[in-house]
Amino acid sequence: MNKILVTGARGQIGSDLVSALREHYGATNVIESGWRAPPHLSESQLFESLDVTDQRQLYKLIEYHQIDTIYHLAGVLSAKGEQHPERCWNVNVNGLRNVLEAAKCFGIQVFFPSSIAVFGPHSPKLDTPQVTVEDPTTMYGITKVTGELLCQYYAQQGVDVRSLRLPGIISYSAPPGGGTTDFAVEMFHAAVQFGTYTCFVRPETRLPMMYMPDAIRAILGLMQAAPTAITIRSSYNITAVSFSAAELAAEIQKHLPDFVCHYKPDFRQAIADSWPSVIDDSRARADWGWKHKYNLAAIVEEMIGEIGFRSQKAGN
Ligand code: SER
Repeated sequence: MNKILVTGARGQIGSDLVSALREHYGATNVIESGWRAPPHLSESQLFESLDVTDQRQLYKLIEYHQIDTIYHLAGVLSAKGEQHPERCWNVNVNGLRNVLEAAKCFGIQVFFPSSIAVFGPHSPKLDTPQVTVEDPTTMYGITKVTGELLCQYYAQQGVDVRSLRLPGIISYSAPPGGGTTDFAVEMFHAAVQFGTYTCFVRPETRLPMMYMPDAIRAILGLMQAAPTAITIRSSYNITAVSFSAAELAAEIQKHLPDFVCHYKPDFRQAIADSWPSVIDDSRARADWGWKHKYNLAAIVEEMIGEIGFRSQKAGN
């Protein structure tokens, strides 16, 4: 029986992952947690306030709900992390260590999202291998490298921890919170609502990306794979598509011909420049059968449709 805790449940990935987990495992078996309760809780929604840096609070919650699986999504992303490096370290590293320590104590399975941000200027930019130079330039990237090492360390001690180096995630349900790949999501909303967007990275900036339904399938696929299939306990490279900001704008223009994209790079350009353009995820594909479904055209078609439908419904 799975009794699941999701930390950072109200974030971009959490919002969609919680729905998928509720469908798969039953609503009463999924406990959402985060800083603040959602404004509207449905009757079947179980929410607990949790600061992952507070070990006692975490242990109490685990014991009370008899948790056996944690999707540990609470974290500070790359751009926010540069503005609040101390908080980024504290939440991303100390929070994870608390979760892994609890996992060791209570025999809990853990999912940890790592990131393409573990790579840096000396990592190969194209087909970045699973094992290569990792020299991140951001506090976020440093916390993710540290996180991966912690996962590997605790796995050696018997913890069933599994992790993915996620690329930029594109979705319409909840906004991303302070990442560098956020421009891709922002562009869709601005295109539908205003017909114009000022992008904070240059047009040729190309990064690995993935549509949310693929990301959810990847996370659930990894967590459901037989333990013997998992040969990497730090974190798997994983990707779907790579495209530049200009290519995304051009694909959006196929649906919204009047859309205009301007470019005004800010401090996030340097972060994007330090990350790979295309990563090699062949180990994930070979070990546990990872396969993406959505290419750029499919992502854009669905995103434009969903955002348009939602803004019509909201009366915008
Ligand atoms: N999407 C994340 C960010 O931009 C990368 O992991 O911070």
